[in-house]
Amino acid sequence: MDSNEIRSRFLKFFEARGHKIIPSASLVPENDPSVLFNTAGMQPLVPYLMGQKHPGGTRLVNVQKCVRTQDIDEVGDKTHDTFFEMMGNWSLGDYFKEDAIKWSYEFLTSKEEGLGLDPRRLYVTVFEGDENAPRDEELAGIWQEIFKKNNISGERIYFRPADKNWWSVGDNGPCGPDTEMFYDLTGKLTEGMTLEEYMKADDEQRVVEIWNDVFMEYEKKDGKVIRKLKQKNVDTGSGLERVVMAVQGKDSIFDTDLFAPIMDLIKEKSVNYDLRSARIIADHFRTAVFMITDGVIPSNTGRGYILRRLLRRIFTKSSIIELSNYTCKEFVDVLYKIYSKNYPEIYEKLNDIIAIFGEEEKIFEKPLDGVETYRLDLLEAMKFGVIKKVGNIPILKDKNTVSGLYIHALFAMHGNPMDLMIGVAKELGFKIDENEINEAIKKHQELSRSASAGMFKGGLANHDERTIKLHTAHHLLLAALKAVVGENVKQRGSNITERRLRIDFLCDHKLTDEEKKKVEDWVNDKIQKGLSVTRRELPLHLAKKIGAEMEFGAKYPDTVSVYFIGPGEEKYSAVSKEFCGGPHVTNTGVLGTFKIQKEEAIAAGIRRIKAVLV
Ligand code: ALA
Repeated sequence: MDSNEIRSRFLKFFEARGHKIIPSASLVPENDPSVLFNTAGMQPLVPYLMGQKHPGGTRLVNVQKCVRTQDIDEVGDKTHDTFFEMMGNWSLGDYFKEDAIKWSYEFLTSKEEGLGLDPRRLYVTVFEGDENAPRDEELAGIWQEIFKKNNISGERIYFRPADKNWWSVGDNGPCGPDTEMFYDLTGKLTEGMTLEEYMKADDEQRVVEIWNDVFMEYEKKDGKVIRKLKQKNVDTGSGLERVVMAVQGKDSIFDTDLFAPIMDLIKEKSVNYDLRSARIIADHFRTAVFMITDGVIPSNTGRGYILRRLLRRIFTKSSIIELSNYTCKEFVDVLYKIYSKNYPEIYEKLNDIIAIFGEEEKIFEKPLDGVETYRLDLLEAMKFGVIKKVGNIPILKDKNTVSGLYIHALFAMHGNPMDLMIGVAKELGFKIDENEINEAIKKHQELSRSASAGMFKGGLANHDERTIKLHTAHHLLLAALKAVVGENVKQRGSNITERRLRIDFLCDHKLTDEEKKKVEDWVNDKIQKGLSVTRRELPLHLAKKIGAEMEFGAKYPDTVSVYFIGPGEEKYSAVSKEFCGGPHVTNTGVLGTFKIQKEEAIAAGIRRIKAVLV
């Protein structure tokens, strides 16, 4: 049974039991800048688990694209990956424990409608109870019945604590106890394992989790379970890659039809092949392609930073196994063959993928010099105990440990790949304070968030009069681009000096001369009309509701400052509304004449305009 057949059997099985098939949401969560990626099928459904009515009814099923990077260091073993597809079925206040478990079991084991897995190789865990909810004897009872009815003998139900069998996404939202299903990959485990034996088999990946049924009837707030929800929900998740591995009788996810063709290509093209590096390349490549397809662009913060790190790890590992004589397109082609039926959009983004890979590879290769300098500095520090400084940061924390702040600073200032720097330090026998690196990354992200949170510290070099005028012109330009080129133009960066303004924005084509002329005319028209520029403090939800332009990925406080340009008192029909901390001129009449100096591409799908006021 190939992976396409497994997906489609899953959807059909639950459709036949009254579930509405819904599409996968994007990897990038909508309207939720607090999470970088969807990490589970339930994430886009949170409002409905909390009680809102879903247009599809009370039973839903889908296959959701997910990205989880917290286990990135485990990638390379048999079962971990950073991108995966989660098959899930949901009851929104409809059926509960009995049906959910019955159907999970039936789908896993039925030869006709399901996957035909051997029930003698199934093991399950249930919640052992704590101060929030009792030991789940009910679930254990349901499982016992099912196993008994099917003549499956032996101990196979284990009680586990909340860190294993209580599920929630983060510290807030719906949650509850769960039951997890594990499959014996070896087919050799003896029935009647003790809890200790089962845990050892789990550690050694002889059994792997293939399904989780969560019974979401509680709500968490700030990490604490605070009450029961209005409705009892079921949230299930079954990782496609692992299920395919079990069904196809493979030893790892990389041997299934979801990965094998990519693994083969890597093997064919590398001089110095090693399995772990190849798995990491295959995994990260797949994740990067799905991210780019969903609109993520490499950068030094947030989602873009994760993408950049994945790409850099690909390049590092490729150089280790001497992967050569290949093109990015060849790899996308192979991936596309695997996914064309379910995700044809990959190929629509082919040019973006190739361009982003090319650009990032160039940036990655350039700082190799930087890494070499860093290596020499470490050698010198080792030899002479000299504590050098980059900016104000010491290279070494003590004589054996390289400073995480220093490594991060080199990354942030010169783009030196972190992986390489860490690798070099380890090679030379140094320890590294990785916590310090993570702290520095966090701080860096927060800084760039607040710099972009409409406070415009990042964008504006100083507050002299010319700069302020250009800032107001910048708002008009963004509004003009949306009016002339299309509503899907989105700002991705900006910078203003006293001489010119610069805006980077999402746009899939080079602006034509006619478009540029129209944009200029639009802005100059608004200047000539002498429109008033006003600032108002608004509640965040209202500012969003009236469609004020927000900074991508930024987190905002409850009350925000919004700048409106014209007309008069009727603020909500203004020609421009943007989340912004100012300052601005008070009337557009003083701006002079707006002129575009240059329009160019800076990355795939991102254009840059430089413009002046004369
Ligand atoms: N939301 C549950 C999980 O991700 C099903 O495991």
